[in-house]
Amino acid sequence: MCAETLLTPRPGIMDLTPYVAGEHKMEGFEKVVVLSANESPLGPSPRALEAYKAAADHLNRYPDGGSVELREALAKRHGLEAANIVCANGSDELIAMITRAYAGPGDEVLFSEHGFAMYPIATLAAGATPVVAPETNLTADPEAFLERVTDRTRIVFLANPNNPTGSFLPSDTVADLRARLRDDVLLVLDAAYAEYVTRNDYSAGAELVKAGGNVVMLRTFSKAYALAGVRLGWAYSPPAVTDVLNRVRNPFNVTVPAQVAGLVAIDDIAHLDAARTHNDIWRPKMTAMLEGLGLEVAPSEANFLLVRFPDDPAKNADAANAFLTSRGIIPRGVRGYGLPEYLRITVGLEDEVEALVAALKDFLG
Ligand SMILES: Cc1ncc(COP(=O)(O)O)c(C=O)c1O
Repeated sequence: MCAETLLTPRPGIMDLTPYVAGEHKMEGFEKVVVLSANESPLGPSPRALEAYKAAADHLNRYPDGGSVELREALAKRHGLEAANIVCANGSDELIAMITRAYAGPGDEVLFSEHGFAMYPIATLAAGATPVVAPETNLTADPEAFLERVTDRTRIVFLANPNNPTGSFLPSDTVADLRARLRDDVLLVLDAAYAEYVTRNDYSAGAELVKAGGNVVMLRTFSKAYALAGVRLGWAYSPPAVTDVLNRVRNPFNVTVPAQVAGLVAIDDIAHLDAARTHNDIWRPKMTAMLEGLGLEVAPSEANFLLVRFPDDPAKNADAANAFLTSRGIIPRGVRGYGLPEYLRITVGLEDEVEALVAALKDFLG
């Protein structure tokens, strides 16, 4: 017997199902239409790319462990306190750090039925217990959260807008939820798709952090800024939580190329606006085109659509996934999110949306 089998990970770790990322590659296709990972189809700011490449000249040096310039730029751009921003290797790292810092064996972490997949993973990795609150109409339900809060609840994660449903909660509903949670429960507002939301009843949550409640807002450069490959996310949190995150954070958790690319991307407002404008035009167009094929599309505030397929085994989501893939188009199956009837499809470029709709037209006959 191999000695390694005697090694026992902490309770919870073997219950964890590793994160399944959206596919990007497929054999046999010169060009693949990747609509599986909610990446911006416009790509990053060209200026940010230049800065990234120039960073190659300094790779013998450690990064600034405090991401100071980047935090100051974020603070200026968003009207926040730089001292209360923590940058990280993607917002995934922050989800893991927050969970590890505030929850452990015997504690509960609450999130919604179709909430982002990293919440249960981070919870189990920390040895804590995941608790799932049912959703109503594919939307997080504050009453369901509150009903499931116990003495052991430490964290509530809410992705707003949520991945993979695209649904959101208005700012007054989120504020009300915060007010009704116990003060020793941390509310984490994961606003990965905030840049895409155009509604005036939405807020990413910075004002709740400022108001002094126990709220953390998470943001990312992976979506509208199109820098998923460099891994860059940030948290805005009350001073006491910031202090805790800086204690558990790895000292050089944001690489030099990520820091410089992020810094320049923040400044390239025109590029961010272009990404938003593209989404504002193509999200409703893509919705109408898919509905025109008789498919049901959930309302989305983000840069992707959750599309429901018929029950018929020849026309269901698995069959559609296989058919699209055979045409070099990659959507995201969301069976793992408890949504086997659906595919999540990123809003792509015009020709990508047209290729998708043409393929689905053939598929549905
Ligand atoms: C809701 C949500 N939160 C966080 C993340 C992780 O983002 P990052 O690339 O910054 O780790 C994602 C990525 O898909 C997401 O959808």
